Amino acid sequence: MMPETDEVADVADAVVRLPGMRVAYDGAPFDETALAATWTEQLQNWLGQAISEGVAEPNAMVLATADHEGHPSSRTVLCKGLDERGVVFYTNYTSAKSHDLTATRYASATFPWYSLQRQVTVRGEVEKVGSAETAAYWAQRPRGSQLGAWASPQSRIVDGRRALENALRGIERRFGDVEEIPAPPHWGGWRIRPDFVEFWQGREDRMHDRLRFRRTDDGWLVERLAP
Ligand SMILES: Cc1cc2nc3c(=O)[nH]c(=O)nc-3n(C[C@H](O)[C@H](O)[C@H](O)COP(=O)(O)O)c2cc1C
Repeated sequence: MMPETDEVADVADAVVRLPGMRVAYDGAPFDETALAATWTEQLQNWLGQAISEGVAEPNAMVLATADHEGHPSSRTVLCKGLDERGVVFYTNYTSAKSHDLTATRYASATFPWYSLQRQVTVRGEVEKVGSAETAAYWAQRPRGSQLGAWASPQSRIVDGRRALENALRGIERRFGDVEEIPAPPHWGGWRIRPDFVEFWQGREDRMHDRLRFRRTDDGWLVERLAP
């Protein structure tokens, strides 16, 4: 459907206004004395604040991967585990992102908490989550999500919406009498084991605070980066 004339004007106006669109940040200082002792505790603290402040999808993170030729891709996934080993998300092991991770074993993920004027980026090697941990998370998923994971050949080209819905009907029939649907063999978790974790707090005049934990042979270092 073609947009009405006024809508066209609004869209054009929004594009013209792009260069002037910015938010003046005014976050409280975030300095070395305020930093928790470990990246894990600091991320847990900020995640807790994102949840209590009502950030939409506070555990959403933008996952960046690259293929074996260095072509980057990014997409949102949900963080489903966070401890000193790293951050965990679940996905299809035959998806484009999993192909990238299998090829390079490396990823970066950013939590974009715009309403808090914060972001956190983790970067490091990836590993598959163990089958017991994957099974425990799978068991918590709603049945509809479990069926969808079986039915969707994630990242493949499909022959229209109807083909997907037919695949879902087929899976519903297959598991109709099964009370506990098992996890598909092509589905599971990835853990990013960070060697860099950067905490970013927006401040006045673009003089933002950037504090980074960096893993070294002698343990973790904390470094401040220019904004
Ligand atoms: C808020 C949000 C959360 C998402 N969470 C996940 C997730 O946890 N796992 C997943 O595989 N895809 C998730 N997706 C879909 C992905 O962004 C992406 O479309 C899909 O994983 C296919 O990516 P790929 O083709 O690059 O592998 C989410 C999308 C959004 C918008």
